[in-house]
Amino acid sequence: AIDVTRLRSDTGYITFDPGFANTGACTSDITYVNGEQGILRYRGYPIEDLAQGATFIETAYLLIFGDLPTRAQRQEFRELLNEQELLHEGLRHHFEGFPSNGHPMAILSAVINALGCYHPDLLEITSRDDFLRAAAKIISKVRTIAAWSYRKAQGLPFMYPDPKLSYCRNFLHMMHSIPHKHYEPTDKQVRALSLFFLLHADHEQNCSCSTVRMVQSTEANLFASVSAGICALWGKLHGGANAGVVNMLEEIHAGNTTIKDYIESVKRKECRLMGFGHRIYKSFDPRAKILRQAAHDMLDSMGYDDPLLDIALELAEAALNDPYFTDRKLYPNVDFYSGIILRGLGIPVNMFPVMFAIGRMPGWIAHWNEANTNGVAKIHRPRQIYTGQAPREYIPLDMRL
Ligand code: ACO
Repeated sequence: AIDVTRLRSDTGYITFDPGFANTGACTSDITYVNGEQGILRYRGYPIEDLAQGATFIETAYLLIFGDLPTRAQRQEFRELLNEQELLHEGLRHHFEGFPSNGHPMAILSAVINALGCYHPDLLEITSRDDFLRAAAKIISKVRTIAAWSYRKAQGLPFMYPDPKLSYCRNFLHMMHSIPHKHYEPTDKQVRALSLFFLLHADHEQNCSCSTVRMVQSTEANLFASVSAGICALWGKLHGGANAGVVNMLEEIHAGNTTIKDYIESVKRKECRLMGFGHRIYKSFDPRAKILRQAAHDMLDSMGYDDPLLDIALELAEAALNDPYFTDRKLYPNVDFYSGIILRGLGIPVNMFPVMFAIGRMPGWIAHWNEANTNGVAKIHRPRQIYTGQAPREYIPLDMRL
């Protein structure tokens, strides 16, 4: 229990808000979320409209620069990303140092941070042009690094990016092409990937975004700040949840448990229903609705019936009709259906959080820039409520019992 009298006399008044559920740490113009009504907007545009009409790259531009690009601006941004897609050959050698079973999230965060060593001129950003170059480097190279971490684990030769390909096709090419055989995804697969990235592109002050802003508040560089964001994303309650969903669905598919038994074990609090619940959304997560439809569309176009999608639909139906979940306002979140899409793209489960990180990169960069250019920003320094020992006397080593 917290002794409030002592707390006040020690420190004055402090807001005690574990998990920062009610603390606004900054102001921001980037993303609006209304969790009660299930509303998400990037720079004022409803997520449903962006999902319908925009590509991931247009959305990245919107988040970072504040407005949708004109045709000429989109072309210029695409060309800039193409120019930046190759990794310095020195960085290629970093991959050799990792064990082949090294987790791709560890590789991603380490190599993104190491990018700063290859671009020391961008460790201090002093102009819009510097920022644009650093942002384009990260958004473009994160794909190459992610795909190479997978190739490394598979013992496959690294596939260099192909500037003729769009952002998403290029990523799938680096993941799945083999020498002399270009991987040819369908248009629906490419669209599903673009949609996956777009829907993950920002979500205001979640744990990883807050981490990026926290690191930035020390005036750390962009590479280091987003690398910290990747680490924060890794956990299974955040970017690792999409892998948790597929593992859960696979357990049910393998017959190790049933939907009914799984729900019962969740209610006994032995485990969580992965891909359900959200700190902010208390009605529904609009991204989950869009991804559920996208998963159907993509699988239909491939003529592939993924049994995990049927299990997911049945599981969601069971939970949404159970007061345990509805009383606690637990609904499917963005991760519930996204793993089905990733499986359809041939992405292995340990790469799922990496896919989230690629999508989230424009959001992190936009927040870093907003904080970096905001004149009233302060170093982040939460307080604590000390619950340890009262003052006591030091005991020399030979007198300790
Ligand atoms: N399954 C079962 N019960 C749940 C779940 C769940 N997925 N989520 C919350 N609850 C229950 C809790 O046990 C608690 O019940 P109680 O009041 O009886 O103790 C109540 O709902 C409130 O839960 P909290 O943990 O306080 O909610 P919080 O806002 O802190 O957590 C979180 C949000 C971490 C997303 C949580 O819902 C969760 O663990 N979900 C599963 C993991 C997941 O899908 N994460 C992805 C989130 S979205 C993203 O990061 C992109």
